[in-house]
Amino acid sequence: MSQQRGQWSGRLGFILAAAGSAVGLGNLWKFPYITLENNGGAFVLVYIGAVILVGLPIMFAEVLLGRRAQKDPVGTFRLLSAGKPGASLWPGVGILGVITGFIILSYYSVVAGWTIRYIIMALSGQLGELATNADANVLGNFFGDFLGNSTEQAVYYTLFMGATIGVVYFGVANGIERVAKILVPVLFIILLALTAYSTTTSGFREALHFLFRPNFSELTTGSILEALGHSFFTLSLGMGAMLTYGSYMRKQDSIPKAVVTISILDTVIAILACIIMFSIIFTMQAIQPDFEVGKSSTILFTTLPLVFYKLPGGGFISAVFYLLVAFAALTSTISLMEVVSSFAIDEFKWSRKRAVLTMGSSIFVFGLLSAVSLGGNETLSGINLIGRESTAGVFGTLDYLATNWLLPLGGLLIALFVGWILGRAETQEELEEGHGLLVSYSTWRFLIKFVAPLAVGAIIVSVILGAEYQ
Ligand code: TRP
Repeated sequence: MSQQRGQWSGRLGFILAAAGSAVGLGNLWKFPYITLENNGGAFVLVYIGAVILVGLPIMFAEVLLGRRAQKDPVGTFRLLSAGKPGASLWPGVGILGVITGFIILSYYSVVAGWTIRYIIMALSGQLGELATNADANVLGNFFGDFLGNSTEQAVYYTLFMGATIGVVYFGVANGIERVAKILVPVLFIILLALTAYSTTTSGFREALHFLFRPNFSELTTGSILEALGHSFFTLSLGMGAMLTYGSYMRKQDSIPKAVVTISILDTVIAILACIIMFSIIFTMQAIQPDFEVGKSSTILFTTLPLVFYKLPGGGFISAVFYLLVAFAALTSTISLMEVVSSFAIDEFKWSRKRAVLTMGSSIFVFGLLSAVSLGGNETLSGINLIGRESTAGVFGTLDYLATNWLLPLGGLLIALFVGWILGRAETQEELEEGHGLLVSYSTWRFLIKFVAPLAVGAIIVSVILGAEYQ
């Protein structure tokens, strides 16, 4: 290879950068609202099952692929499939991943942009006025107008994309690692503090019931697919992000230890976010009967401020919190951008600068469609794949397509490749490097060969065969 490849500076470098990729809007924005839409309990249980039985083994697989090949997703599949069955087809999995990353980054940055607006509003005092209004629905109405304002959507989206492109431009250890090292621990501490506060609210018990009391009669095939899709989304799996980060991992570090740490952290953060938000929702509903949750996909922005301003220094807490959400989103968008860039660097032999700027600006233009599809443009917001609120508009359609279809499909192919095409010796060597195999090798091999592909395959097939998505 002509260029020198970047590498994490140490053992913690990979863990923090990968945790930074995993922890993001998926945990703080998306998981709470899809849990609400899917009626909690059983959905949460399926999600946790999917993380353990499907997500974890696939993360092992992705990281080991990257570290073994030391290449971008396409190059990795080309190198490792050489001389094996289907050698000419496997690089296609890498290409699918690059396309998926392109799509996710485009709409994800729109939501990330909202956090910038909220930081500004918290500092200027505007958020405080909205959140302390006697009518708790005022904030929700404000947010609806904000979504429909194409200019504002485009402006904040542009700012956020600019930040992502900027960090990736400076490369692995300098940009990505430095940001993640500070962010992940601070975000975790703030969430713990908010959770401690939520235990004192009257809605806390109901929130726990909602989250942890499963009612399986409410589970549909659609919600199982959504739980599965989300387990890929939240762990950054199925499109080569973990593969790419694994390619910068040092040989002496343990893959299993890192993967298990990251998955636990990611799941705990998602659950904490739910406890915090649902406690507020149930408390508000009890004291103000006409309180509406409104568009559930906006609860991170319309529900949380209500509690911040009940605390002393609400403006300050809000500003810090949305700043952290912005950083959590940034460490995730960085990983998406890194996949697309490393593809252009390794495959087209472009310089990092050229790759980041060219790919970044293409994604930017594509994402503008999502930004104005939230109500600002009727044609774009009118597109609706299957008639659910969450799939409305270009934005909702892309999210649905990527999370529920492209990521599981990518994950399925990765599992098949690692389980059936790679030899036992190749995978065992990577996983046992750095010692400390937390799960026995044969357990993992069984999961990756049979359980993961069958689970993902069965769900995809049953949905295709006409089980209703609703
Ligand atoms: N996991 C991130 C989140 O939960 C989003 C993300 C980053 C992602 N990189 C990814 C999702 C790669 C899928 C694939 O916010």
